[in-house]
Amino acid sequence: MQKPLRVGVLISGRGSNLKALIDAAQSETFPAQIVCVLANRADAGGLDHARDAGIPAHTIPHKDYDERRDFEQALTRSLADHRVDLVCLAGFMRLLSGDFVRHWQGRLINIHPSLLPAYKGLDVHRRMIEDAAKIAGCTVHYVTEDMDAGPIIDQRAVPILPDDTPDRLAARILIEEHILYPDCVRKIAEGKAPFDIGS
Ligand code: GRF
Repeated sequence: MQKPLRVGVLISGRGSNLKALIDAAQSETFPAQIVCVLANRADAGGLDHARDAGIPAHTIPHKDYDERRDFEQALTRSLADHRVDLVCLAGFMRLLSGDFVRHWQGRLINIHPSLLPAYKGLDVHRRMIEDAAKIAGCTVHYVTEDMDAGPIIDQRAVPILPDDTPDRLAARILIEEHILYPDCVRKIAEGKAPFDIGS
């Protein structure tokens, strides 16, 4: 039987979250399939994970486009060509315009390495340690026009240890990210995480 939810994953780098999604989708009971992977950089290591799994993987370099709108239209065209239902950002390091976000609203999710709404933005592991925070974690959320602020689908918490470095903390959070992202895709596929921006 064809799996219901068709997922496209956008990456810029090593793609360990992509790999977690690919691995999860290999289970017969997982209600979604990864149908394409798009990278904005040809050297994104995650492209190899896609190719190894026989998933169509395309590079759409942002540098080839003078206008962000044209780059994003190329992304949307490719996602539409693959009949994608849900777009997962997994370490995709380009800001997306309101037009793109509105086009995919309710069908566009992201993973972020903090317990949102705390620590939006970049360099979060260093910032958490500098603040002597005690609990870190990761969040999967719907993407809206405000960065890292869309409806939260789910989170996992991680302790920050006294001798943590940003790299050590990042590695500990990443283990949880790899559980959380497939869990959230499953929830969406099963209709258990409706997009709701409140009233
Ligand atoms: C992850 O920490 C994710 O939370 C953040 O970017 C990183 C991507 O890592 N958005 P990877 O490319 O999935 O290994």
